[in-house]
Amino acid sequence: MAVKELNVAVAGATGAVGRQMLACLEERNFPVKSIRLLASSRSAGRKLTFRGREVVVEELTKDSFAGMDVALFSAGGGTSTTFAPFAAEHGCVVVDNSSAWRMDPDVPLVVPEVNPDAVAGYKTRHIIANPNCSTIQMVVALNPIHRAYRIKRVVVSTYQAVSGTGMKAIKELTAQTRARLDDKPVEKAVYPHQIAFNCLPHIDVFQENGYTREEMKMLNETRKIMADDTIRLTATTVRVPVYHGHSESINIETEKPMTADGVKALLGTAPGVKVLDDPENNIYPLPVDAAGSDWTYVGRIREDESIENGLNMWVVSDNIRKGAATNTVQIAEILAAEYL
Ligand code: A2P
Repeated sequence: MAVKELNVAVAGATGAVGRQMLACLEERNFPVKSIRLLASSRSAGRKLTFRGREVVVEELTKDSFAGMDVALFSAGGGTSTTFAPFAAEHGCVVVDNSSAWRMDPDVPLVVPEVNPDAVAGYKTRHIIANPNCSTIQMVVALNPIHRAYRIKRVVVSTYQAVSGTGMKAIKELTAQTRARLDDKPVEKAVYPHQIAFNCLPHIDVFQENGYTREEMKMLNETRKIMADDTIRLTATTVRVPVYHGHSESINIETEKPMTADGVKALLGTAPGVKVLDDPENNIYPLPVDAAGSDWTYVGRIREDESIENGLNMWVVSDNIRKGAATNTVQIAEILAAEYL
């Protein structure tokens, strides 16, 4: 059966993720009948190219979604909170990349390799949430291990690229790097500290319990996507001076015994995963290699010799692609193929 072509809106089309969404729609040959590009009033009238044609960017308003079937949102949480309900009123299904709707019990939170069937839950509010970038790549790697060996506890530390903060952060890293190399004063606007040649153990805002919101997202979203509230997880999230690609050091403790070789074989056939694990030849996942790809790369898979049934691994993925735009478009593909 041919998939129906859809009228697609992209809210936040001028941003780092929005532009990648357009690229993904093109690359994956999404069934687009018409496209509407939306951003703030600052960008109204700008032109972006889609499938070789120039498309004029319009200001996002509550009337932007009339006649649209699907809207991909990546314009910040406040914008999603305000505008997603207007889209839903028009019968347009929102796939939202912000954190605004992720923990709403009436909104599915979907990683297609893990819980594709959850998409059906869009019918209640006409909204589907795309998880946080650092959560997506982690659950793609964790889910097969959980199904085979049952994960009891996860300790994760992240090394996250500046592109996750948006275009302004990408520019800030470049400007600060240039300034440092030229012995000029470093200017800060996006982050509270210099990001060039530095690591900031601070992503999103601090909570009362001493964790950041990013760290709590990794726990709460993982439980929701993997539909298991018994998984224990503790995270430290760190911003590093990398443009594209988040890296994660993940320590797992399972209920059933496992071996490093068993996990390598399991992940070798897992959806969305590519194992790159040949340390003798210096082969392991790197953000510079992951940038531009949709795989979740896993390497450095080794048993944790300090506990029973423990394992360490290193997981890398392009945060703007699989961590945001690609995952959003994959969700829209399921909607197009099975529901709309
Ligand atoms: P604009 O480019 O007009 O500011 P990034 O994450 O790379 O900073 O991108 C954020 C995206 O969200 C941009 O496309 C930006 O548009 C858009 N955006 C930000 N605030 C609003 C708003 N109030 N209404 C519509 N779009 C917005």
